[in-house]
Amino acid sequence: MGATPAPPPSGRPRPPRPEPAVGAPCRLGAPRTGAPLRVLELFAGIGGAAAAVGGRAPIVAAIDVDPWARAVYTAWFPAHPWVARNLAHPRARLPEAELWWLSPPCQPYTVRGARRDVDDPRAAPLHALIARIGAGEGPEALALENVPGFAGSRSEAALCAALATAGYETRSFALCATACGVPMERRRYYRVAARGGLRPPARPRPQPQALGALLDPLPAPETAVDAATEARFGHSFHRVDPADPTAVLACFTAAYGRSPVYAGSYLGAPGGPVRRLSADEGLRVFGFPAHCRFPAGLPPRQPWGLLGNSLAVAAARVVLASFAPFDDGADTVRGVDVASLAVGLATPGDRRAALALRDADPSAHGPPADGAAAKVAAEALLAPGPAGPVWRVADCFGLVGLARGDGGLLLHPGAADPASAAAVRAALRAAGAPA
Ligand SMILES: C[S@@+](CC[C@H](N)C(=O)[O-])C[C@H]1O[C@@H](n2cnc3c(N)ncnc32)[C@H](O)[C@@H]1O
Repeated sequence: MGATPAPPPSGRPRPPRPEPAVGAPCRLGAPRTGAPLRVLELFAGIGGAAAAVGGRAPIVAAIDVDPWARAVYTAWFPAHPWVARNLAHPRARLPEAELWWLSPPCQPYTVRGARRDVDDPRAAPLHALIARIGAGEGPEALALENVPGFAGSRSEAALCAALATAGYETRSFALCATACGVPMERRRYYRVAARGGLRPPARPRPQPQALGALLDPLPAPETAVDAATEARFGHSFHRVDPADPTAVLACFTAAYGRSPVYAGSYLGAPGGPVRRLSADEGLRVFGFPAHCRFPAGLPPRQPWGLLGNSLAVAAARVVLASFAPFDDGADTVRGVDVASLAVGLATPGDRRAALALRDADPSAHGPPADGAAAKVAAEALLAPGPAGPVWRVADCFGLVGLARGDGGLLLHPGAADPASAAAVRAALRAAGAPA
């Protein structure tokens, strides 16, 4: 725990602070012009999105109703105006911003939350915002994060309909924190949308981290697991050895520390004692900056309650790279020449298919990527999977590409228009890639 005392949370929302002076809007799909980009964090929680923005753009407000989240957020990001406002209110006042980041409650789309979708009252604030988007009151661009169960929900359909009505380009994708090199499973649904156009899809640039390097050298006493709990539930613990450089933690939920199983991993060498992660260790795993430590004075289970709802910061940075002002190449691999990838592909059929893809529209690939970027992408693509390299044409992201049975995906960034897409499909069929 950090030494900063927590501001006492009150049940009553404080009046919002005055909004900061802001500059002229900019269009996100266009190359950066130097115009300022303002971000509005909706359902801000403890600020996973603020950490991902990382000072690259002003945050005009962080909106949330949770007083504990406010206590933490305002300790970590004191320059960002916190607004305690119920977003379910159809006319809740929203400060002007070019980019909305939305992390609405996920319970309506989880099995534990009974998957009631739009019938769950916790979906109401998202639908109030969807109504504004459909009415043309949305921002230039937005990014939404949720659990994988959001895909295919009625809420997703309503959001897509509103985005289409208001003329946004949009795409969704699933991204796990492990793809960014984070030693923790956290698979999430993301949807990005922009009126001025999105950057082409990109792969995360993995920056592998060993779990052991993120842990305290001396574990905090409160992380110990009592003998009775271990005797009763130990056989169901997801246990990882912190000395294993390839160790990957299970996905943490807000119930970690409260629910003994299925809420996150335990640490322990084989045959030795186990312990939990402390919440401050969790913050490092999630990728929060070093100054973020839970303030003293929170109830014991509150830190994990907040962190379990938060974001893997590295994944959120990849999502932000969908918008030109955040696409500095640091987090993603883009523009990889298909021919460089084809060199490394496993079978002659795969190589033929990839080359056919390139030949269908060679102008679409942009400048050849540097060798290191191509190698990273090729390794990601060729990672062994249970189903082997089965190719198929993929239409996800609204683009055409090649997907493999094991989840590897090679996108063709230039095939968004129907004629080009048809040419790619024909070339793939000719090369023997199954449709
Ligand atoms: C999944 S969490 C978002 C966590 C956040 N991304 C983070 O990094 O911590 C959902 C958040 O929505 C907030 N929330 C739920 N209903 C709300 C409402 N009606 N108005 C505003 N905020 C709400 C909760 O307090 C919670 O912090």
